[in-house]
Amino acid sequence: MTSPVTVKDKGLEVALPSGELAYFNHYWLRDNCSTSFDPETRERVFDIFHLAQPPHPSSAHVANGALEIVWSGENHTSRYPLGWLESYSKGERRADPAELKRVSWYGDHYPKMARFAHADLMADRQLVAQWLRAMLVEGVSLVTEMPDSDQALTDLVKLMGQVRPTFFGDYFDVRTHIAPTNLAYTAKALELHTDVPAEDLAPGVQFLHCRANSVEGGENLFLDGLAVANDLREQFPEDFKLLSETAVPFYFEHDNQDVRARQRVIELDENGDVSGVTISQHMADVFDLPQHFMDRYYPAFCRFGRMLQADKYLMRFRIAAGECIVFDNHRIVHGRSAYSATSGDRYLRGTYADRGEMRSTYRALTSKGRFA
Ligand SMILES: [Fe+2]
Repeated sequence: MTSPVTVKDKGLEVALPSGELAYFNHYWLRDNCSTSFDPETRERVFDIFHLAQPPHPSSAHVANGALEIVWSGENHTSRYPLGWLESYSKGERRADPAELKRVSWYGDHYPKMARFAHADLMADRQLVAQWLRAMLVEGVSLVTEMPDSDQALTDLVKLMGQVRPTFFGDYFDVRTHIAPTNLAYTAKALELHTDVPAEDLAPGVQFLHCRANSVEGGENLFLDGLAVANDLREQFPEDFKLLSETAVPFYFEHDNQDVRARQRVIELDENGDVSGVTISQHMADVFDLPQHFMDRYYPAFCRFGRMLQADKYLMRFRIAAGECIVFDNHRIVHGRSAYSATSGDRYLRGTYADRGEMRSTYRALTSKGRFA
């Protein structure tokens, strides 16, 4: 069976099985010949920079459901299945199995929060896929029945990726410290925040493994920044615009460290949808923006900060020893009320992983990819 192909100056037109006449650029076709990719390393081994002439077909036709091109000036034939061409014909982004619709949650989320037992996750990769799905959609989950060991936390992180260090190191211990460098290391109330915005790329996924919690007070506070940001967008669009477009400075300065980065309080993804928030009163640097701009920025910033504290959004609970709360650090805002340091033990051990690695693991567990 043959089908018409029209070779033009910079590309060609080919009739797809859908009946649509689609255009493909010659460079793109030559670059993406299946032989461009090493089947073992799966990396591109063809180097388009070294073509002597712009690629041009000496002949092109459709046979057996594929476009076949013989390239002029090269002893090379390329074959492209029409179904594969069709998936790129509209210039749309490649479908991403990890791009799931985010679902906002509110103050009543605690009983509904996705829960998985540590041993079950260790034993079942399909359960890991469900766990990561909950993380991508809701941004928070609770892992229960954690063994009382450092290794249990590392093992959990490794199910989705690598331990991601920050300037605090690979792991951090949240308990009362004698010379604290951070409010978390005291018994005082910890206002609502996301972690480590002073880094260029704040860590993506946070793990807090509770090893002991017998103190009075110290209620955990979590909220979905996405829910609040979307409400702000609806009710106060000008404020939303300011917070999603303006980068403000964050810092951490101690001893040999002078860490600085600028972040937008509301983070948008490539589609313009809210994908996260960055909020940290204790790491916010002096805003170095024009003073007249502050006239508009501060009221918007404060409105958002007050909205975060509304009961509508706040999930309150007490994390118990043996539980690990896992959450998207770019989306979920957390804090705790003050506790009495002398009333018992409180020890949370934490670490981070990357969002990108979490998405990678989810894709690998749920879809075939390009080389299957
Ligand atoms: Fe924190």
